[in-house]
Amino acid sequence: MNILVTGGAGFIGSNFVYHMLETYPEYRIVCLDALTYAGNLSTLKDAMENKNFRFVKGDITDKEFIDGLFNEEKFDIVVNFAAESHVDRSIENPDVFLKTNILGTQVLMDASRKYGVKRYHQVSTDEVYGDLPLDQPELFFTEETPIHTSSPYSASKAGADLLVLAYHRTFKLPVTISRCSNNYGPYHFPEKLIPLIISRALNDEKLPVYGMGENVRDWLYVVDHCIAIDRIIHDGRVGEVYNVGGHNERTNLEVVKTILKELGKPESLITFVTDRAGHDMRYAIDPTKISNELGWEPTTTFDEGIKKTVKWYLDNKDWWENILSGEYQNYFKQMYEGR
Ligand code: NAD
Ligand code: DAU
Repeated sequence: MNILVTGGAGFIGSNFVYHMLETYPEYRIVCLDALTYAGNLSTLKDAMENKNFRFVKGDITDKEFIDGLFNEEKFDIVVNFAAESHVDRSIENPDVFLKTNILGTQVLMDASRKYGVKRYHQVSTDEVYGDLPLDQPELFFTEETPIHTSSPYSASKAGADLLVLAYHRTFKLPVTISRCSNNYGPYHFPEKLIPLIISRALNDEKLPVYGMGENVRDWLYVVDHCIAIDRIIHDGRVGEVYNVGGHNERTNLEVVKTILKELGKPESLITFVTDRAGHDMRYAIDPTKISNELGWEPTTTFDEGIKKTVKWYLDNKDWWENILSGEYQNYFKQMYEGR
């Protein structure tokens, strides 16, 4: 089995690369990544030692390059993680989100059609469903929930999902889509809430919480997301969408306080800042379909996952300190100053 993992130098893609190399020692895994600000080759240094792994630097929107790679490798399965993934950045600069997330998906699917890929899997997000109100906790996103996006990021992911389903219907491309809730764990870029709070708290810096910190996210340990994708690409039904989530809802304030407790840092570091424009209130996944059809269940509780994640950031300071010392400083200043 020869599998292309795009965006494998990013957070979830790299965790997926490691999961697949460990679980299927007989598979070949090719990681394609443009190494944008979010991609980090050092994340893949252990994978580089594996003879079944190949890293290729390249852009999923580059048609000619993608065609050449597919021609050379004859992939069986394509798993597309490559994307611009940060909502706040999409509010500042939507252009690259539309280009990578929509056009990149089209380029990958055209190559998948041309070279007879047996499964094209699109890694999508629960954000395509918009948000749920805080005062109706009985509501959850199912695969039938209408697409109703809030940010340029989620709109670009929804556009890609629709294109994937269209390629299935019109060209019979054997596709699947997963829509997962918020992930956390090792190699999470420190612009996202959990790693941002851990890294800043460790440096005794102020912790920016948007609005009143009441927004709810449904957190899943990243390895459980990887296991879900593994199940879907092997046994998922072609043309289907699978929601992935572990019924683990927390307000942002609860998450921040849990991390502070774990680190032994004071809550006085918390600073309430101007809210995100168009901020989604609540995400909550109903995972009944993937649970019934594929037997998938989360294996890591939030308490265990947060402990593991905090330990990983303590043990791997070089990884995130390197990121924080670069271009990231300008980003943080621009995004949070005067907020
Ligand atoms: P990330 O930002 O950490 O990683 C994205 C990777 O894609 C980076 O390595 C980057 O270099 C690469 N990339 C970006 N543009 C590219 C291009 N044009 N060509 C090739 N590579 C490119 O993102 P993540 O959090 O790991 O998310 C991965 C995927 O999972 C995304 O599609 C995202 O929408 C989806 N998702 C994320 C979450 C989450 O909680 N993080 C939840 C559900 C779904
Ligand atoms: O639900 C899946 C999505 O989860 C993925 O599709 C996205 O790629 C991923 O980035 C994530 O989106 P969110 O916007 O939910 O994640 P983020 O970590 O940016 O923010 C989580 C919550 O924390 C959100 O309500 C905004 C809030 N927040 C975030 C940051 C960065 C803060 O309060 N302060 C912050 O500094």
